[in-house]
Amino acid sequence: MKRYEKFADQIAELIRTGVLAPGEKVPSVRHASRTYGVSPSTVFQAYYLLEDRGLIQARARSGYFVRELARHSLAEPETSQQPTQTTEVDVSELVFSVLASLKDPGTVPFGSAFPSPDLFPLPRLARSMAHAVRDLSPHAVIADMTEGNPNLRRQIALRYMVSGVMLPLEELVITSGAMEALNLCLQTVTQPGDLVAIEAPAFYATLQVLERLKLKAVEIPVHPREGIDLDVLAERLSSLPIKACWFMSSLQNPLGASMSDDKKRGLYELLHRHQVPLIEDDVYAELYFGSQPPKPVKSFDRDGLVMHCGSFSKCLAPGYRVGWVAGGRYAEQISRLKLMTTISPSVPAQAALADYLQHGGYDRHLRKLRHALEAQQASMLASAARHFPASSKVTRPSGGYFLWFEFPEQVDALRLFQLALAQGISLAPGPIFSATRRFGNCARLNYGHPWNAQSEDAMIVLGRIINSF
Ligand SMILES: Cc1ncc(COP(=O)(O)O)c(C=O)c1O
Repeated sequence: MKRYEKFADQIAELIRTGVLAPGEKVPSVRHASRTYGVSPSTVFQAYYLLEDRGLIQARARSGYFVRELARHSLAEPETSQQPTQTTEVDVSELVFSVLASLKDPGTVPFGSAFPSPDLFPLPRLARSMAHAVRDLSPHAVIADMTEGNPNLRRQIALRYMVSGVMLPLEELVITSGAMEALNLCLQTVTQPGDLVAIEAPAFYATLQVLERLKLKAVEIPVHPREGIDLDVLAERLSSLPIKACWFMSSLQNPLGASMSDDKKRGLYELLHRHQVPLIEDDVYAELYFGSQPPKPVKSFDRDGLVMHCGSFSKCLAPGYRVGWVAGGRYAEQISRLKLMTTISPSVPAQAALADYLQHGGYDRHLRKLRHALEAQQASMLASAARHFPASSKVTRPSGGYFLWFEFPEQVDALRLFQLALAQGISLAPGPIFSATRRFGNCARLNYGHPWNAQSEDAMIVLGRIINSF
């Protein structure tokens, strides 16, 4: 990490924790340089970076100030209530009706699961696709179906290495997006009727997969910043025959929670004691703000108990449908199950991604994407503080592109969803994230699209509807 990035991270942390309040002047370049023992040019570069990230702004002849995003900022929600012990899952109808609402390109896409396609390097990817397909050997077109594209596997393993996980290539199974990887993992370690520990709230597709495979959910409460409640999980593991856990340890969807490294290690040790496998869904791993990537629980895995699932859908190439799982001791079974079902994701798509990862400037793209998302988060938070009731609560994730709102109790999120849709605004209502249809006054809003007058108007309309309950 460069010196100015480190310094920028320290200032960002002071802003995030409220030490430097909105509207407050950040130390002058001369003062910062003297106090922190860094050169003036390092301070300048750090301040340009923080400006790019939407955290500070320059005022003519006065210096830099923390952006006024949150003078009346909304509070943070608390850990979700402890749910019932186990439950059958039946949410698909509700989820499909919400997903159907997202198809109209005219709606403001606060309910979407993706960032704006304009934030992805699609023309550069297209060049990689043309290049890769031209060079694909007739042998590889067939052979790569079983093993996956060897160059892609190598590029993915290299990225694991950089984040501190030494991954044997045999562990890596390339899949049709993370969704296939997650499905295969769950099928590998469970039978219909088994219990699976999931988060509450959880990504709605998790619930749909459990429903399809006739598995029962054991919902574990999640703190909006610190992640799952390990005490509750420990108690459930001792009292129930849980066969697998499906968790997101970083940038959890929908809350955005990221567990500390210590907590991730603690989770691993707990699961290791009970010999319960972890399916780690880490599709937002590349979208962290700041300059240090979060470590996966997989980095603490000593004996192949963690199946770590990733994807290019959220950070590079939605629609290419290429993901993977580092399957630990289950890799071979996962791979066989894949060969018995979908066989392989598209070989040309894999080759295109391999070419892009090698030559396309992936890290540069990711840096730009993270900065754009961080600035857009600041805009949505500021707008919510202006237009939503002051008693609303909101998360402040350190990455990704979702905010989770908890509105006053009388707000019915499903009704809010209908009323907003009638005004051309989509959102993801809280109950689709729960096996027990809780979070009835909550919603997930996507800030992954460049902020503009239309976004601001949509927040005003949402605020009016919320106030009308
Ligand atoms: C938490 C989570 N896991 C998995 C997926 C699926 O990823 P993919 O598109 O790679 O199948 C998504 C996509 O919305 C997601 O949000």
